[in-house]
Amino acid sequence: MSPRKRTPSRTGAPTKDSLSVRRARPADREAILEMSKRIWGGHDYMPLVWDRWLAEKKGALLTVTVDGRSVGTSKVSLISPGEVWLEGLRLHPEFHGRGLSKRIHRATFREASKLRPRTVRYSTWIGNEASRRIAEKNGFWQIARTGWMWGKVRKPSPVSGRRATPDDLDAVVRFVHGSSCYEATNGVAGVGWTFPELTRRRIRHLLSLAQVVVLPRRGALRAVAMFDIGKIDDDVCLGFVDGPDKDVTLLAKDILRIAVDTGRDEASAMLPTGRIADLVRAAGFDKWQPVRAVVYELGARGFSGKDEPFEDVLSRTLRSNESDVLDVIADLLMERAPVALAKENVRDFITRNFIPDTDRQLIGGTEGFFLALRTDTLRSILRGVIEHFHLRHGLAGDALSATHKLVSVRHRGRRLASLRARAASLHLTLGPGFGPCFPPDLKVRASETKFDAGTLDGASGCYESVTLVLTERSHIKGATRSIDMIMKSATARR
Ligand SMILES: CC(C)(COP(=O)(O)OP(=O)(O)OC[C@H]1O[C@@H](n2cnc3c(N)ncnc32)[C@H](O)[C@@H]1OP(=O)(O)O)[C@@H](O)C(=O)NCCC(=O)NCCS
Repeated sequence: MSPRKRTPSRTGAPTKDSLSVRRARPADREAILEMSKRIWGGHDYMPLVWDRWLAEKKGALLTVTVDGRSVGTSKVSLISPGEVWLEGLRLHPEFHGRGLSKRIHRATFREASKLRPRTVRYSTWIGNEASRRIAEKNGFWQIARTGWMWGKVRKPSPVSGRRATPDDLDAVVRFVHGSSCYEATNGVAGVGWTFPELTRRRIRHLLSLAQVVVLPRRGALRAVAMFDIGKIDDDVCLGFVDGPDKDVTLLAKDILRIAVDTGRDEASAMLPTGRIADLVRAAGFDKWQPVRAVVYELGARGFSGKDEPFEDVLSRTLRSNESDVLDVIADLLMERAPVALAKENVRDFITRNFIPDTDRQLIGGTEGFFLALRTDTLRSILRGVIEHFHLRHGLAGDALSATHKLVSVRHRGRRLASLRARAASLHLTLGPGFGPCFPPDLKVRASETKFDAGTLDGASGCYESVTLVLTERSHIKGATRSIDMIMKSATARR
């Protein structure tokens, strides 16, 4: 887990072509365990799991080979129906930093897709740059940040809480699903570095094993803790706890008592960073500084798709609200800074460091086109149209490209609009490709409205594309109305 240096490619070094990924075989054992000694300073857990992983029927253990030599692994596990967990990604350090993980990832995904996944997740150490980069490049999104902690067990003594039973199922599920701990982890709970979903089914399973402790001992639930036994360290791992501070502390201490009762001399906890982790640590899980973990899930949560990617929706929203976002962040920083600051400087700091200065990009990007225009009226129309794309629809930055003769605005990977300069007019063409949204009796201010006959939709009688000839400042309104129409159609289309 220590930070690694990138290994420069060497002449004659293995290439992607000499690499292959296949199902693991018993004969890989020696080479893989040898390789594993070189990972994380010899603290890799692979020797503890290899035999079990190889024997597992569901999922797949993969071996990476370079020129036939076993040099890496990847494990695909099914932790409940539809719930795929990725782990065990390893490559011999000799081959790190050469882009080989792409092929391993592709093979891992082929195996994962055979399991008909509803969700695919994995976790990693917060400082594992290669692993996190792989997540980010492959469509995984962070759903939780947690701290891994260990505590020395307490002397045997009675627990404060009550072991809940299957009769408590409804109450426990209600409590868990409404808790801040559940919200902070987006519904997963750690057992070591694996994070299964806290479904009703899983809670029922934990209740059947008497691994749920509640407070008070009688009456309505005020606090709940759940633990499971880690598959790698065979540890008692506290993966969920919530309730008032005092109860969280009592339940964390109970887990340390339960661990001693089962003959262990320590217990672990994997909990969301913040209040919960802080309380549990202070209750005795303070053997080390917590190790921070990130849980990744494929696909962005709470995003209902359409055909515009999550990132594009957000970046458009950010750009069209840039000024408000800047204000909010600036106010927060000024409120919390230890000294008085001038707001304009703070806003400038934010645009330099975190948020694109879209105004600067707009002016800079279209400057050549702007200067080539012959009249102030045309420049004014250009500004009005371009600013509308930016301020109302967030189309700026990468969405915009300009030469001296043409400004293009792209949306969802295709050209949505183009602006061409003539001696005394600007021609704004909208569409096609975003649906038939311009009625033949379109009434917008422009000196001319020309439909593209080839884009007439028989069913609706509307056109997909129109060109407006803009000559007066008053035509900006006509242009912006037409832009709103095509954007509405683009957003409504699936
Ligand atoms: C994880 C592992 C298999 C990745 O293999 P790799 O050959 O190092 O990865 P790659 O060269 O394909 O790099 C993957 C990405 O991470 C980036 N990366 C790799 N090492 C990096 C580093 N030290 N710092 C920053 N970025 C790094 C690469 O630039 C690449 O991103 P890019 O495609 O945008 O350029 C390998 O590093 C490994 O075995 N690590 C030890 C075990 C481990 O941490 N496993 C993951 C547990 S979750």
